[in-house]
Amino acid sequence: MRERIETGIGGIDRMLYGGIPEGNQIVIAGGPGSGKTLLCFEYLYNNAINGQIGLFISLEEDTGLIIENAKEAFSDFKDIDKMIADKKIVVHGANDTRSYIQRDAQGSSYTFGKFVTEIESLIESTNATRVVIDSVSIIKLLMKDPFEYRNTSMSLVAVLRRSKVTALLTMEIESSEKNKLIFQPEFFIYDGIIIMYSSAGEGGSRIPTMEIIKMRGSNHSFATVPYEITAGGINLMLLAERRADG
Ligand SMILES: Nc1ncnc2c1ncn2[C@@H]1O[C@H](COP(=O)(O)OP(=O)(O)OP(=O)(O)O)[C@@H](O)[C@H]1O
Ligand SMILES: [Mg+2]
Repeated sequence: MRERIETGIGGIDRMLYGGIPEGNQIVIAGGPGSGKTLLCFEYLYNNAINGQIGLFISLEEDTGLIIENAKEAFSDFKDIDKMIADKKIVVHGANDTRSYIQRDAQGSSYTFGKFVTEIESLIESTNATRVVIDSVSIIKLLMKDPFEYRNTSMSLVAVLRRSKVTALLTMEIESSEKNKLIFQPEFFIYDGIIIMYSSAGEGGSRIPTMEIIKMRGSNHSFATVPYEITAGGINLMLLAERRADG
């Protein structure tokens, strides 16, 4: 049986009956502000505590901002700066990664060949075993040809597999309502899909919920579970715990 990688995020490992099967490449999809970036950061943080080196590659936010936001939201995680200083967590923000995306010679379309090879060499040079790419939606945005987009996504997954890392890749979805979820073609390429919704609750409020759509190599819960972002990390409110709360 494959080794399980615990995310350390309250509740997710239980929904996955132990954690993510090692070497799986997982999509974390959700609407704006659902907590995708923070969830991914927490995954790297918890794994860094266990001695696993994490690499956070962002195509959207600069390095400083990613770290500041994580420290702000997870104020109980006192040693984020030390983890970064010790290179247990390596953050490459958009200020570093912007050059990975290039225009072709005619300037008419974008190429991601450099992006994929840069990621491979970053994994090699940092010795990372846990990787985050936040977000892969920009690839889709810049690539007009769906066939080319699929090929790029597949070569990205191939590189991550070859590097033997267990990665989380964030993706934006158009609607964060569960009943409006559209299965994207790329969902078939990745090993696992976790969706973060924002569902309409009573009195017009919105309730954030999470669902595991697929996880290759593992059984998992099919429940849609509310979650909260707390100073000590993201917490899923599993049914058993909700019952205990009354
Ligand atoms: N200090 C905090 N305490 C509690 N919740 C916070 C705190 N800081 C941020 N949040 C929550 O986290 C959300 C932002 O999380 P995050 O940046 O991970 O979202 P995201 O899904 O990556 O968003 P985007 O799609 O814009 O990249 C905020 O919308 C807010 O709900
Ligand atoms: Mg984000």
